[in-house]
Amino acid sequence: MRASLFRSLEVILTVAVGATLFGGAVFAAHPRSGNRGNSGAASNQGNSSARENSQGLDSRLLRMLEQHGVEQVDAPVQDSNKVILGQALFFDRILSGNRDTACATCHHPLTASADGLALGVGTGTETVGAVSIFRVRGEGRSFVPRNAPDIFNRGSVNWHTAFWDGRASIKDGVIVSPAGDQLPSELQTPLQIQAMFPVTSRDEMRGELEDVQAGNELAAIDDADFIGIWNALMARLMANEEYRQMFANAFPEVPESSLGFQHAAIAIAAFEAEAFGMNDSPFDQYLAGDREALSHDAKRGAALFYGAANCVSCHSGTLLTDQQHHNLAVPQLGPGKDPTSGLDFGRFGVTGSMSDLFEFRTPPLRNVTTTGPWMHNGAFSSLEDVIRHHGDVGKSLEDYDPSVQIFQSDLREMVVDDESLNEWMLETVDTGDQDFDGNRVHFLMAFLESLTVPNLHERLQWVIPADVPSGLLEDGIPEVD
Ligand code: HEC
Ligand code: HEC
Repeated sequence: MRASLFRSLEVILTVAVGATLFGGAVFAAHPRSGNRGNSGAASNQGNSSARENSQGLDSRLLRMLEQHGVEQVDAPVQDSNKVILGQALFFDRILSGNRDTACATCHHPLTASADGLALGVGTGTETVGAVSIFRVRGEGRSFVPRNAPDIFNRGSVNWHTAFWDGRASIKDGVIVSPAGDQLPSELQTPLQIQAMFPVTSRDEMRGELEDVQAGNELAAIDDADFIGIWNALMARLMANEEYRQMFANAFPEVPESSLGFQHAAIAIAAFEAEAFGMNDSPFDQYLAGDREALSHDAKRGAALFYGAANCVSCHSGTLLTDQQHHNLAVPQLGPGKDPTSGLDFGRFGVTGSMSDLFEFRTPPLRNVTTTGPWMHNGAFSSLEDVIRHHGDVGKSLEDYDPSVQIFQSDLREMVVDDESLNEWMLETVDTGDQDFDGNRVHFLMAFLESLTVPNLHERLQWVIPADVPSGLLEDGIPEVD
């Protein structure tokens, strides 16, 4: 939905010009329970039949939710000293080779823990200190190949995977990650494991060989030498007295000589879990027992989601994802992951198994109305079109119009328009045989809206620190006169 994208932008722009942040306008379009069925001029009879319908609907929905084991999402409490350290690290550009990119650049609270772009730009920017959406791609730099996902509720204990292709995972004690044996043993959750990798990625944070002359010691290290990269980065951090103190507070049981970047990752994960771990969306309130929390339309949408439309076959359980991979034949765009073809083969790139071709991990859906553009490469900036795509993939591919869906003009020309590719993707597509008429889309949208917590942007304000130990704060707000 374009509107929600522009809402994020509107928030940023409002901050940038120093106007009142929440004059009410930003969220006024979505009163929490403003669109109940039969509100307004309904007759008495209308009201009572609506109530009966509503009771019938509630019991049907509650049965479905129970059958599918859907519960209010957990938001585990984190250790405060780790959160404080993790917050500093998350917003500190010192973590990037060229000192120009922080985790927050692409996962900023102002853009709902994502970046508001289909594909973002990493290190080498000409606009240091600005969040992705205001960044100008540096000369000769590429887009990052995938959409920066939101990171809401990734602290839930139910997670066992990370990334669009699930390349980091931990299940039954078995850890899989791109670093293989080099991964330190202290890491225990997918979120902690994930935090080890953005700093090793050349396009996201580390930089290219040509950056070495400019004083980027991290870029000189061999790509396969994960331990070398982590050690060099840790040396950077520990040269700062304030960080030394913060590490000592966060890990009092670990002697300084045993501290490694894994401890930074553990702290970052604690911060992410705390900052983005809200569990009071109207849907979660409903799951917790408040039958009034959902509008009638949202309940009808939920009944479709868990019933006739069968979204639950993939967006299952408490996290609204099965954490498995499926092929939705999303239009290909951007530099791709495979350097030869310029395509993104998804899970196939991890397993090499033909049955995983074009498959991506089912995304979780909390706060999804705020996290566009959507899909693994941001191919859609209309959430309604995402739903329609699920219903009829072939038609959606045929009708796909970059000038409508992609607002980054330099990305539009990187959409791969190739019929034989589309046919190839459609051969193994996992959805697309349903008719989502206007009503169904409307109700499903109402349900998706109920997954967004109230006053999201306002509540994320605390998350931005006033400063970070290196002084290289990614505050996201460009200078304005
Ligand atoms: C240049 C933009 C950029 C930067 C900087 C960045 N990320 Fe990301 N992040 C991404 C993209 C793109 C993905 C998806 C990559 C993929 O799945 O292949 C991602 C994925 C993630 C995920 C996985 C979410 C999930 O559901 O699997 C987490 C968590 C995350 N990033 C946290 C971080 C942290 C922590 C940092 C800093 C250490 C960071 N990111 C730095 C762009 C960025
Ligand atoms: C066959 C499994 C499957 C079914 C069924 C399914 N989805 Fe999805 N959904 C996915 C996958 C996989 C993606 C990501 C695809 C990609 O990026 O390549 C996705 C993406 C999405 C997104 C975008 C989220 C984001 O963060 O980018 C939304 C919204 C969504 N689905 C809603 C629905 C709804 C509503 C239904 C029911 C009408 C549904 N899905 C049914 C697997 C499924």
